[in-house]
Amino acid sequence: MNSSRGSRCLLAASIFCLTVSPTFSQVIPSFRDPSVSLDTRVKDLLTRLTTEEKLGLIHGASKFSTAGVPRLGIGPLWMSDGPHGVREEIGPDTWNAAGRTDDFSTAMPVGICLASTWDPDLAAADGRTIGQEALWRGKNIMLGPGVNIMRTPLNGRNFEYMGEDPYLAGQMAVGFIQGQQGEGVASCVKHFAGNNQEIQRNSIDVQMDDRTLYEIYLPAFKAAVQQGHVLSLMGAYNKFRGTYCCENSLLLNSILKKDWGFQGLVMSDWGGAHSTDGSVRGGLDLEMGTEGPYGKNYLAGPFGAGIAAGTYSIDQLDEKVSRVLRVLIATHGVDVKPAGSYNTRQHQMTARKVAEDGSVLLKNDRATLPLNTAKIHSVAIIGSNANQKFASGGMSSGIKAFYEVPILEGLTRELGDKVTVTYAAGYRIPRRMRRGQPSPAPVVDHDLIRQAVAAARASEFAIIVAGLNHDYDTEGSDRPNMKLPAGEDELIAAVAAVNKHTVVVMVSGSPVEMGAWIGKVPAVLQTWYGGAESGNAVARLLTGAANPSGKLPCTFPKRLEDTPTSHFKSYPGANGVEHYEEGLKVGYRWYDDQKLEPEFPFGFGLSYTTFAYSNLDVTGYQEHGFAAHVQFDVANTGKIDGAEVVQVYVSAKGSSVWRPVQELKGFKKVLLARGQTASVSLLLDFSAFAYYDSASQMWVSEKGEYEIRVGSSSRDIRLQKSINVPQTLRYHD
Ligand code: GLC
Repeated sequence: MNSSRGSRCLLAASIFCLTVSPTFSQVIPSFRDPSVSLDTRVKDLLTRLTTEEKLGLIHGASKFSTAGVPRLGIGPLWMSDGPHGVREEIGPDTWNAAGRTDDFSTAMPVGICLASTWDPDLAAADGRTIGQEALWRGKNIMLGPGVNIMRTPLNGRNFEYMGEDPYLAGQMAVGFIQGQQGEGVASCVKHFAGNNQEIQRNSIDVQMDDRTLYEIYLPAFKAAVQQGHVLSLMGAYNKFRGTYCCENSLLLNSILKKDWGFQGLVMSDWGGAHSTDGSVRGGLDLEMGTEGPYGKNYLAGPFGAGIAAGTYSIDQLDEKVSRVLRVLIATHGVDVKPAGSYNTRQHQMTARKVAEDGSVLLKNDRATLPLNTAKIHSVAIIGSNANQKFASGGMSSGIKAFYEVPILEGLTRELGDKVTVTYAAGYRIPRRMRRGQPSPAPVVDHDLIRQAVAAARASEFAIIVAGLNHDYDTEGSDRPNMKLPAGEDELIAAVAAVNKHTVVVMVSGSPVEMGAWIGKVPAVLQTWYGGAESGNAVARLLTGAANPSGKLPCTFPKRLEDTPTSHFKSYPGANGVEHYEEGLKVGYRWYDDQKLEPEFPFGFGLSYTTFAYSNLDVTGYQEHGFAAHVQFDVANTGKIDGAEVVQVYVSAKGSSVWRPVQELKGFKKVLLARGQTASVSLLLDFSAFAYYDSASQMWVSEKGEYEIRVGSSSRDIRLQKSINVPQTLRYHD
């Protein structure tokens, strides 16, 4: 029994006796009174706590909880990973699985799949699903979403995050947070900030200029705080400008709490706190995961001793405790938690919808897809990834799934019994010995390739399920390169040589090099790690039961050498320091600047139907600075219903400072029946035209000419119009 559920029962009993015993002139204490403001409840509860009880609320009392206040019938604050569902129970004081049978979850698709839907409303449904299952498991805080920008395709945790663009990552995180927190469960946006690799993640000192910080690496967190009203945030392991993020006063006190007005709590990543003084003064509110006895945590005994010695004040303690109480009260920590739900049909269908809408159709020559199941008789399904389950991998974001449908199972079922399916493994990805160790040399198994080629030769269609796994897409290590392991390149080329109807389904959490075979296959579908319903979602997409609508949230470079971090040799750092030399030139901002042709550009994704854009109108007007109303029509010019993600990029002309060629500043997913035309309206406020000026520490929405670009991807601009911003507006963060 999760102890939080135990304290809930105790709490319910205490409220019950309060309400049924009229002889006691009981007034519900303010902190339990939902009719008063959250601030009032926090202040009331704070006055009732001893110093010891206060300290017990700002550090771990188990791997994933605080101490609570048993004297007042208040249970612990329970946290759980992660961004893809409620992690299995571990501990309480070890990382070992608790071996329970009541801690399964619906495995949601990974973060980068959710980002690829470009649908904040769907992100909200994703957040709601995990929130409901978190309630069922008695949790107050879910440790996600992760929004660290994809600076290099090699980062092991790219699969958990939301891609290379700060605006897209921010809007998707806002949707997720609003959905999850609407269920009464706190989200925890992470990892703040500059945690863009796993190599030396606990110690690397990240150095970058102000524009890069404010324009690339902070905006998704700022959106989570100011638009999503996220209740908690996790400080990252790394250092920023020489100081650990979890005690970095610039990040936590000046930017997050003062400038952005963050009212929630800042927790450390597990083991990310490093000193009492740094934690007290640097803005950390909740210390989690520090090794050793909890009473010796930096914010436990040592902080209490510092207060007793007069080094620290009770006010400094109360500032932290108040933030924790705010989250505790906001997440039913002092009343009876809603029961929540789990593994419902709605949860399953939300998982399938995210997997479907997050899959990206990268190539479809000769309308190879969708498969016409009424006409075909034989399909070879090739690749060990077709017959694998992935949900439990990746370390902290792994899930003990109620179920997970592999692609082989889902596709075989969808094809039906009139189609002969032949399976061949084709390759086996060698296990990486230990995290962080260099991958073993890819082992090309020519017997497996021969068997796969034979199966393909004997079938009308060949579906190769290629990609990576969570030995490569994982917390704790980065990939050594962008190549497919285990001879998959050779396999794909060999199969394509004997079957012209070869389709590649890519199961991976980050870009891979495709140059060895992309010109030899007519169709490619990027499906990421699609969670519980992945097999069914991929099957529905391949057979046309669902129409692909995903768009890439990151660039797929042709080769690793084309990436900005390779060009500047600014990754993974040297002597413990990493200079973000590429600055603002991250992702498409780099490839546009260098006029480099990627394999597939940011924002790209095909559909089984086609879309046409027309009638762009851009009207500028003055309101708190300049804003622009963008309106245009988009039509479904094909034969089937489909959804298009219309994208709006802003391109500054003649700016006084270097600006990216273009920047994403608006998007909308539009569902269109065949033949339907819709009018789309988007508003670009002054921030869409602004850059960050380090000298004045202000944003500058600079007067001058801008091009408003409307398109189907960053490299497929369909409409554009110039506007003039008449005057410059300067404003603070
Ligand atoms: C891990 C991860 C973090 C996770 C936490 C608890 O090291 O960095 O994302 O939420 O510890 O498992």
